[in-house]
Amino acid sequence: PVPVIIDCDTGVDDALALLFAVRHPGLDLRAVTCVAGNTDVDGVVRNTLTVLERAGAPAVPVARGAGRPLIEPARRAPVHGADGMGDLGLPAPARGPADVDAVTLLRREILACPRPVTLIPTAPLTNIALLLRTHPEVTRNIERIVFMGGAVTTGNATPVAEFNVWHDPEAAAVLLTAGVPITMYGLDVFRRVVVPGAEVRRLRASDEPGTRLAGELLACRPARQGGEPGAEDAGGLGDAGAVCAVADPAGLTTRLLPVEVCLAPGPARGQTVVDLRPGPGEAEFHDDGSERALVNVALDVDVDRYVRLYLETVER
Ligand code: BDR
Ligand code: CA
Repeated sequence: PVPVIIDCDTGVDDALALLFAVRHPGLDLRAVTCVAGNTDVDGVVRNTLTVLERAGAPAVPVARGAGRPLIEPARRAPVHGADGMGDLGLPAPARGPADVDAVTLLRREILACPRPVTLIPTAPLTNIALLLRTHPEVTRNIERIVFMGGAVTTGNATPVAEFNVWHDPEAAAVLLTAGVPITMYGLDVFRRVVVPGAEVRRLRASDEPGTRLAGELLACRPARQGGEPGAEDAGGLGDAGAVCAVADPAGLTTRLLPVEVCLAPGPARGQTVVDLRPGPGEAEFHDDGSERALVNVALDVDVDRYVRLYLETVER
């Protein structure tokens, strides 16, 4: 199996991503690190531990990370309820987080892994930026980073910026220039992978606690977060789609394109500016001579394939 580490802000769809990663036989979830985003970082830690217990993976190490972005104050995404998890009334976890912080756990797990690790950030990129700046040697054992964030077209936090990048644009800029292969699973594909209502109802009726939780979480993902208009009980996979893209890369169409995060204050702050102009694909240069990051940008997704993969996996 592919060794993976998820860095998340659990989060309804982060929880869907964790359930999938635990249950997919081709993935080996080695650790989970938490960052402020959908809710404050202590809430993220609690939600993450609870989901892993429910998924049947109570031993995966979990660490608490950054409580706020590198520069700006923390701002929550209000779409996931008061607890950041759709207010499902889930029990408190039986254990606490690891006694090391997220950056320390990331470094330790990446360097100790016998095979290069795939990192899957599904949250603001603060922990990952701190890791890359503090311990740059980790890149030697990182296979690639597949992150949920950014958008080629329309944003969600602002007209042009996606929440995870908008929440900590400087951290996203550090990630893009990390010098390891990067895949951007942005809103353009994120919004499209939606589980039909009939399947959501089936999952919710399951006797198996992890499968049932997947159904309850999907039922909290309304149309504007990826459901089809009119299909009230359909639920978007959201962040879980980025994990599907690691388990089954052939379902995602990507193109290697120059991407830059807008850091300037104003209406475009946090936008991922993707250069779709035809032209030389390789070393692209700015007018000022500096190099732009080349990123595998997700442009299309096989929706049915990922929906099937998700259902098969969480119903195992
Ligand atoms: C991202 O923001 C969060 O609310 C979701 O979990 C996802 O990671 C989408 O913009
Ligand atoms: Ca998230």
